Amino acid sequence: MDKKFENIKQDALVKINNAQSVKELNDVRNEYFAKSGLIAALMGKIRELEPSTRKDYGQAVNNLKLFLEENLGVALEKTRSSELRARLASEKLDLTLPGRNFEVAPQHPFHLVKDEICDVFIGMGYMIAEGDEVEEDMFNFTLLNMPENHPARDMQDTFYINEKLLLRTHTSPVQARVMQSKKNEPLKMISPGKVFRRDDDDNTHSHQFGQVEGLVIGEGISFSHLKATLDLFAKKMFGPKREIRLRSSYFPFTEPSVEVDVSCHVCNGKGCPTCKGSGWIEILGAGMVNPNVLTMNGFDADKFTGFAFGVGIERVAMLRYGIDDIRRFYQNDIRFLKEFPKR
Ligand code: PHE
Repeated sequence: MDKKFENIKQDALVKINNAQSVKELNDVRNEYFAKSGLIAALMGKIRELEPSTRKDYGQAVNNLKLFLEENLGVALEKTRSSELRARLASEKLDLTLPGRNFEVAPQHPFHLVKDEICDVFIGMGYMIAEGDEVEEDMFNFTLLNMPENHPARDMQDTFYINEKLLLRTHTSPVQARVMQSKKNEPLKMISPGKVFRRDDDDNTHSHQFGQVEGLVIGEGISFSHLKATLDLFAKKMFGPKREIRLRSSYFPFTEPSVEVDVSCHVCNGKGCPTCKGSGWIEILGAGMVNPNVLTMNGFDADKFTGFAFGVGIERVAMLRYGIDDIRRFYQNDIRFLKEFPKR
């Protein structure tokens, strides 16, 4: 009998020593200690023995049990701590490693120039008002002196959402909204933002672009105020030597209306590819607010006059940075974007 138990012990020791993990050791433990394991089977046999031999046999099984428990316990302890050490080693953090470098992105030329244009007008005391890109037909057209079926609506090919809603074609509707909220109070504002037109995209046309539109209303506001404002704007944006030239034009919301050219900053007005040889570059539309627009939006047109202007953000950015294609502004080509200064 002793030999038999000795063999079981040796056999168990081999299994314990061969086990590579806590899981394998638990398998070994089950083999001996589970309900259907070897210890239970040996214990069960006690009933079949001669009463006189039962005591020795019982002691031998107990002894085996203790032996197995002790050896399994020691092995489990060892394996558990080496598994823990391995896990900790794999999760180790080297706190002395330098952090990953996050590159500061350059500013997008659109925002760079938009902020610059806004800053010029903020410096002249203008307030900023922003509106929604989805606008009512009423504010985008009707209240700006373009009733339904007015031919001037064709000047701005429009994305309609339904009969009443559209993607705004200019930021002038923001001005109509502010006028309606003020009514007969002097006003000096710019509205920067994105606008949309159904255009076929090419290097100078885009179905979406940015505008900054300005509006000043007060008693005694005259065309000379508009001219001085635009002259200052041109000098701030393109340099102190720039001059402006006004050409008669038409917008339904202004009367008289003008298109404004600035003398070419590349050739100083001599003529070069940037100004297509003319020495002048068109930068914005402007005019005196049409009295109809004042009246429709709650102002007394006998008392108040005003001027308005609208400038394209990409257009100014293209001139400032010599960008040849308006599509570059939304293609997200990192090589193009990297050309601009960081914040
Ligand atoms: N809203 C005009 C446009 O988008 C620009 C403009 C504004 C012209 C104000 C005159 C006065 O075309």
